[in-house]
Amino acid sequence: MTSQRKRVGVLISGRGSNMRSLVEAASAPDFPAEIALVLSNVADAAGLDFARTQGIATALVEHKAFSGREAFERAMHETLVGHGVELVCLAGFMRLLTPWFVGQWRDRMLNIHPALLPAYRGLHTHERALAEGVKIHGATVHFVAPEVDAGPIIAQAAVPVLGGDTPETLAARVLAQEHRIYPLALKLVASGAARVDGARVLIEGEAAAPDALLWPTA
Ligand code: GRF
Repeated sequence: MTSQRKRVGVLISGRGSNMRSLVEAASAPDFPAEIALVLSNVADAAGLDFARTQGIATALVEHKAFSGREAFERAMHETLVGHGVELVCLAGFMRLLTPWFVGQWRDRMLNIHPALLPAYRGLHTHERALAEGVKIHGATVHFVAPEVDAGPIIAQAAVPVLGGDTPETLAARVLAQEHRIYPLALKLVASGAARVDGARVLIEGEAAAPDALLWPTA
């Protein structure tokens, strides 16, 4: 059974709370994936310490040690392959990726973004949502496409925007949902229940279990 679990490499640059939610979910014996590697491009990323305390293999591939983006990505790719990684999860990984790297991991690389895509691609999503006065905000897990913060959507969670919200309070409300939907999305992909169909993701049994669109229940 254990050998059938998909080997996942999680790419981080900082705090790593989404990585942590994946590690915690994968500690369940029936979860269809295991976290085989946590890779950071930043030496003092707090998430690396957590991974080490969990006994998870870690790797540091510092972008600034390479002459260019492609050399950096080739080193990351070799590290992932060297650890037998089959699926990649970007979790607060703060480097833009080239079409070459995205192509290597096509339909096998997930990202989490703190907005309801296709709205608010890019940075400062909470500030922008507040500035435009939207009433509903949220988070998205998607397969990675060459364009930034784009690609077939696997799971989304919505949260209300409240009158007194600051970027920080809104971010915290969204983050709590990120920690719910990233493990869910990884489970759907690793188990084979989610598959890419053109620009969309089809989820087996979705009509019976519509939890890939999550409204907060907690
Ligand atoms: C999260 O909000 C994620 O959606 C975004 O960057 C943040 C990373 O936080 N891509 P953490 O490192 O997972 O705590």
